[in-house]
Amino acid sequence: MEIQQQSDWFREARLGMFIHWGIYALEGRGEWARFSGPEHGGRPEEFNPRNFHPEFWAECAWNAGMRYLVFTTKHHDGFCMFDSHYTDYKVTNTPFGKDVTAMVADAFRERGFRIGFYHSLIDWHHPDYLPDRNDPRGKNGETEFPSVRPGVYQKYLYDSVEQLMTEYGRIDLLFWDYCSPWKNPDYFDPDPLLAMIRSHQPEILINDRMTFNRTAEYAYTGDYFTPECTIPSQPPGSRWETCVTTNSSWGYRSGDPVRKPAEAFIAGVMGCVSNGGNLLMNFGPDADGNLPDHGIRVMHELGEWIRINGEAVYGCGPSDFRAGPLTLLTQNGERVYLYFPVAPMGHVMLPNLRDKACRAVLLRTGEEQNLSSWGLVYSPLNEIRLIPTPSVRAHDVIRIDLGRPGRTVEFQDGSAK
Ligand code: GLC
Repeated sequence: MEIQQQSDWFREARLGMFIHWGIYALEGRGEWARFSGPEHGGRPEEFNPRNFHPEFWAECAWNAGMRYLVFTTKHHDGFCMFDSHYTDYKVTNTPFGKDVTAMVADAFRERGFRIGFYHSLIDWHHPDYLPDRNDPRGKNGETEFPSVRPGVYQKYLYDSVEQLMTEYGRIDLLFWDYCSPWKNPDYFDPDPLLAMIRSHQPEILINDRMTFNRTAEYAYTGDYFTPECTIPSQPPGSRWETCVTTNSSWGYRSGDPVRKPAEAFIAGVMGCVSNGGNLLMNFGPDADGNLPDHGIRVMHELGEWIRINGEAVYGCGPSDFRAGPLTLLTQNGERVYLYFPVAPMGHVMLPNLRDKACRAVLLRTGEEQNLSSWGLVYSPLNEIRLIPTPSVRAHDVIRIDLGRPGRTVEFQDGSAK
């Protein structure tokens, strides 16, 4: 499918917040809870979060530099976190009784976020969803399910999504998850669904997971591509976003021993942007509505970094220039950003920038950095040598302004620092 949208908010934003929240949080074993414990995977009658403050989630995410949200309106368990007109298996039928999706969307929109809805194609609860290999109905090896009426599920999906597209204001993004490869690839007919969605939300960006495996390979079939947990080795030229979770699962896991450090996400977002993509960082609130403490800390640290270095992220993309070892480059027009995942041990060679770099400044301190042609008189790569001041440390960014070359420093006596 051709990219039809012109809107570039997605590329401008670069950093988003992913939230996995559902009744599985009651079990504290991630969003696939029903496969590692009781089959109910969380009981609706127990869902009554006492500490659900979506404004606080939005505040944390905004201060961390995130500019769009993707929220799980329905995960694979089929439980609707919105007030569905088409099932009773929904959040408004819990003691909490309110439309969580509407509350989350309102709070984040109010704070300035673009709004994205995650919606699972897989549905382990609906009787007319054709069971896949993870479905309890297929646990005894059955492969035929004569009572299943796929058309009924398709209609349910269509109606549910139409409700989400018409009753929740402007929706900027739709994150399908996902058409499983072991299923009949023609089970979902994407065209009428996509047409309906675009008729209500003409600017929406729709991810690539609806038609997974409709073609022989993992083909790009949406408005953006969603590699998962990784920066792809061959980033597509199109829009892409990788989602990565801050702990060990997407949904809440109590006592989760995995706590990924903020630095991993600082380097991660620069790794994404330098390859033309976005980073969607995931958090799984507990059943009371609390974001994990670790997630809050990561967002805080990321925010400190983004306040200083955000110009190397927002609106940036891959650089026209090549980064040397142990550095990454991003670029926004005439400004090239040099990022150090680790503190530099010495100078940095910048190919093809010799006649173009006019000034280099350390964003954290404003200190000007020396650009030198020392030792490069005969370099065929047309490099310039950037000599970082001793204060440059891990995760710092140096902005290199392009234009007429300014003063370069010659080191004839080899006394370069
Ligand atoms: C996988 C998992 C799912 C999770 C998603 C996030 O598809 O099955 O639980 O929501 O990744 O991208």
